[in-house]
Amino acid sequence: MKLPSKGSSVDSILGKMKERKAADADWRGGKTFSLIYPAGEEVDRALHEFNNLYLYENALNPFRFPSLHEMEKEVVSMTTNLLHGDENAGGSMTSGGTESILMAVKTARDRAREERGITEPQLLAPVSAHPAFAKACSYLQLEHVQIPLADDLRADVGAAEKLITDNTAIMVGSAPNYPHGMIDPIPELAALAAERNIHFHTDACVGGFLLPFLEKLGHEIPPFDFRVPGVTTISADVHKYGYCTKGASVIAHRHKDTGKYQMFLYDKWPGGIYGSFAMAGARPAAPIAAAWGIMNFLGEEGYCRLAGRAYDAARKLRAGIEAIPGLRIWGDPIASLVAFGSDELDIMAIGDVMDDHGWHLDRQENPSALHMMVSPEHERIADQFLQDLKNAVDNHGASRGVEARYS
Ligand SMILES: Cc1ncc(COP(=O)(O)O)c(C=O)c1O
Repeated sequence: MKLPSKGSSVDSILGKMKERKAADADWRGGKTFSLIYPAGEEVDRALHEFNNLYLYENALNPFRFPSLHEMEKEVVSMTTNLLHGDENAGGSMTSGGTESILMAVKTARDRAREERGITEPQLLAPVSAHPAFAKACSYLQLEHVQIPLADDLRADVGAAEKLITDNTAIMVGSAPNYPHGMIDPIPELAALAAERNIHFHTDACVGGFLLPFLEKLGHEIPPFDFRVPGVTTISADVHKYGYCTKGASVIAHRHKDTGKYQMFLYDKWPGGIYGSFAMAGARPAAPIAAAWGIMNFLGEEGYCRLAGRAYDAARKLRAGIEAIPGLRIWGDPIASLVAFGSDELDIMAIGDVMDDHGWHLDRQENPSALHMMVSPEHERIADQFLQDLKNAVDNHGASRGVEARYS
């Protein structure tokens, strides 16, 4: 495709965009269960304002845009506080969970080389850990070693212990993991790491802005944050249950001293000294402003309200799914992630029928499942979803999906 020889009007361009957008997932209608975390119209309006104010600035250079530097510091500080870091805690913002994980793995790798002389580093992560850890191993040249899951779909601690070697630079647990919404036994895994001076990372990309508020609401949450001895870094995504627009996550360090291993510094360039805590060079300002804005807009009260709504919606959906004969929930997810399947029914065919009714459920394997990441706004669609699911279970044998897949 060639660049058009002449430009078009904003109206005609917007018209074309809207035409294309019509084919995208209708997340505002509540029929999408991952990728977006709708929190209602007020939050939506506020985010537009926050983003608009910072469309052009660049967070690469903190001296040019001190307002960004201050907001980033405050987002990190509010986040480490939520995760029970003390006055020694530090960190930075990144573009998302994957980048936070990449930076945690870089920190651990460089730290292991410097402090323990490890030149062939290994990363030990549960099978259910996000693929960002595999990506980090591939980019940063660590060996990726997978910890099997126990029957409860949490990391098997005994198996983890046997997999530790002198080259283990970093161990990982999720709070919760994406596939089944289970929180790994973080205290047990982190203790194994701490005994051997191994870096331990809690991936709280999903839980970082959800679990602290569920705990404040009185729910019993397994320990996962800096209260657990041995947890060295935590990733927490503001653009998930922090309800920020995309491009905002925090990589939090128990002690700001380990930040030096996250840092990249280069002083042999005619352009001057170049320092960066991120994978990216130029960094968009809007996600930092939007993160700071939304955290101040919602405050603890707003987050507790939204966490409670997401939790109630997930519980309602879960109970409704369990009540449909033949369906079952995999594991015992604590919060808003629900994966369900069946011992006797073709769950993928059921998913196909749900597709026909406009629902977007992710597909999973081992065990086969349909996957939901539940947001506060899903409480509005829970009844309709459960009705459609019941019909899909009753009718999936005759669905187009089954014919397509078995013909
Ligand atoms: C548990 C977990 N960790 C990390 C990530 C990666 O986050 P991102 O997609 O923002 O890079 C995800 C994404 O869903 C996740 O569920």
